[in-house]
Amino acid sequence: MFKPDKFVSEKIEELREKIKGRAIIACSGGVDSTTAAVLVHRAIGDNLLAVFVDTGFMRKNEKERISQLFSKMELNYRIVDASEEFIDVLKGVEDPERKRKIIGAKFIEVFEREAQNFGARYLVQGTIAPDWIESGGGLRDTIKSHHNVGGLPERMNLELVEPLRDLYKDEVRKVAKYLGLEVYERQPFPGPGLAIRIIGEVTRERLEIVREANAIVEEEVENFYPYEKRPWQYFAVLLPIRSVGVHGDKRVYGYTIAVRMVESVDGMTAAYFKAEHELLDKIAIRLTREIKGVNRVVYDITNKPPATIEWE
Ligand code: XMP
Repeated sequence: MFKPDKFVSEKIEELREKIKGRAIIACSGGVDSTTAAVLVHRAIGDNLLAVFVDTGFMRKNEKERISQLFSKMELNYRIVDASEEFIDVLKGVEDPERKRKIIGAKFIEVFEREAQNFGARYLVQGTIAPDWIESGGGLRDTIKSHHNVGGLPERMNLELVEPLRDLYKDEVRKVAKYLGLEVYERQPFPGPGLAIRIIGEVTRERLEIVREANAIVEEEVENFYPYEKRPWQYFAVLLPIRSVGVHGDKRVYGYTIAVRMVESVDGMTAAYFKAEHELLDKIAIRLTREIKGVNRVVYDITNKPPATIEWE
């Protein structure tokens, strides 16, 4: 039986022993990185700098939420707007693995800049067990290059600290809750963000569509179900194919949004969520009514395996 109180006290001790200088963490505001940041902050205080890299691929209103969260946790933090750099390096890139690797590499580059300015010797990451197992570090072949691990260049001369490395998602949630973090109720969100919820090339137009679509799906699911009844993860994916539709008396040629909701314990396997049709109706109506350029909505009914949870 996993005991969060024991884990926290032992980990803080261990971190205090290990970290002999300044440390930096890229904090996305998700459960993993925020929990890692709070743990390390408890061990070394303001010798930790939490950096939020705004890739431009974050969810709607994420930046505002993050600054509130970090202020509240009294973290020493910086928000870096790198959204132009990220969209530039992805121009013309369609392959999911290349996308992930390019994002990972860019992320590390932006981050290294910050690390140098701060004089950091250590890099803290919120890597959890499924991240490195699926990145080829464990028993399985590389399925997807996970952002947290895949882009990490060997040349980086910062020492890696991964306080959550042995934990699965449900254990991280327990730790977060124990630490008093409000984030424990949030659904998981992938490191490369909305860029991997656009199949094919990432463009500004597609990014705004998928951001709005994800916000609508989240809002409708959260209004429809109380917390205990919600699926483990729920989101929208933009498919680059266009199909014919009608809008008023006009023929339109628009994008398709795939809605995905899954049940899972740790993300390693998943079952598609048997959502009520009433909810699906609401989502489909709002997506097509509120987002210009979207005229079709489909619901993903595959399990993992054989599909993965994300589409890329
Ligand atoms: P897949 O799509 O591999 O996703 O079935 C399993 C879980 O991991 C999330 N995910 C990621 N998380 N960095 C992360 O931290 C990533 O690169 C990444 N890719 C996928 C995904 O949202 C799901 O919860």
